[in-house]
Amino acid sequence: MTQTIHELPKPAPIFDQFLIDPNVVYLNHGSFGACPEAILDAQSAHRLDAERELVRFYVKDSWGKIDRARNALSGLVQCDPKDLVFVHNATTGVATVLDNLDLNEGDELLVTNCEYQACLNNFARTADRTGAKVTSVSLPWPIKSEEQVIDAVMSGVTDRTKIALLSLVTSSTGIRLPIEQLIPMLKERGVETILDAAHGPGCIPMDINSWGAAYTTGNAHKWMCAPKGAAFLHVRSDLQDGFTPLVVSNDALDLKGAGKKTGRSGFNHAFDYAGTDDVTMYLTIADCIDWFESNIEGGVNGNMQRNRDLCIQARDLICEELGCTPPVPDSMLGPLSTIDLPSGNQTAREIKDRLLSEFNIQIPVWGTPSGTIAVRISVQAYNSIEQYQYLARALKIILQG
Ligand SMILES: Cc1ncc(COP(=O)(O)O)c(C=O)c1O
Repeated sequence: MTQTIHELPKPAPIFDQFLIDPNVVYLNHGSFGACPEAILDAQSAHRLDAERELVRFYVKDSWGKIDRARNALSGLVQCDPKDLVFVHNATTGVATVLDNLDLNEGDELLVTNCEYQACLNNFARTADRTGAKVTSVSLPWPIKSEEQVIDAVMSGVTDRTKIALLSLVTSSTGIRLPIEQLIPMLKERGVETILDAAHGPGCIPMDINSWGAAYTTGNAHKWMCAPKGAAFLHVRSDLQDGFTPLVVSNDALDLKGAGKKTGRSGFNHAFDYAGTDDVTMYLTIADCIDWFESNIEGGVNGNMQRNRDLCIQARDLICEELGCTPPVPDSMLGPLSTIDLPSGNQTAREIKDRLLSEFNIQIPVWGTPSGTIAVRISVQAYNSIEQYQYLARALKIILQG
């Protein structure tokens, strides 16, 4: 990166607790979420503790420590802790569910054009393996109302549809889908939902129990600022029997018996020890919740509200500076917002590269479903309004010369 010729805006004071390069205006928490130094220290402490006596850790202590993390996370996402297990990322969560489904030739798997590519790739692979067919519906862009999204999704349902993949918040367009309405509507048509809440805990208030999706997977390593590799999979209680991780381990032949010894269900037991692995990223989830509680007014919930408010404020000021219209109603936004840029002759890649090389701004610029070029802003606790004012000026210079 070249040294910027501009004075960089100050981030929010809490920035000092993160390890982010101060010479970068980091506006892409949505792709990779930064982790506070104190949480990385907590993870190191868990690692050192394990290394002191590895048999004690894996055979005895880790079970209770995983339960502590599970209890803390289930309080935040509102579900019974017994229904929740850990996986290393949301992509693994989706792949695990697909691996457990009983699919046959001619079955249909419903997705939208705004689902995350890695998840779509796993759907395509499953379709190849089973003879099922992936049906993709297009969500409108720009979006006027939740009803438009509901109509688009439901238009893809047929008598052969078995499962639908829906993001809680879409990656490319940053919109919160109306899943409270969609999950029961799909269920009524005999279609279960995999809810992709990669942007879930710490991003949007979650209520897994009342939403009722068959499967929900989500990342703690995004908006909860956990170390990388911390994610969860929730499986509704009526679907847990025989549900296994992608890799089965030592106790696979008698999970229920083994679970009795560790005081948990066979489902929990299978995921809590899925081969020798680093589990310390999961253990820090409770530490993350405490970190938010001690450092941010209102804890995780207060931070979600703060980020959403700042996101709407930032989007409005960028739209005003560039003379463009907000493409999504405020009610469908969390801490992400995608803004169409006025058309010009530069590609998305060129604009993104210039933002980084000339202004030191790390932010995605990409195509939208309707073919426009858009910038996606992310707002996390360490971001300040001054950073978005700086982004707006930088975009104006790049786009208008
Ligand atoms: C909506 C959505 N789903 C899934 C993922 C994949 O997450 P991971 O790379 O942690 O598996 C992402 C990543 O950004 C995402 O935005």
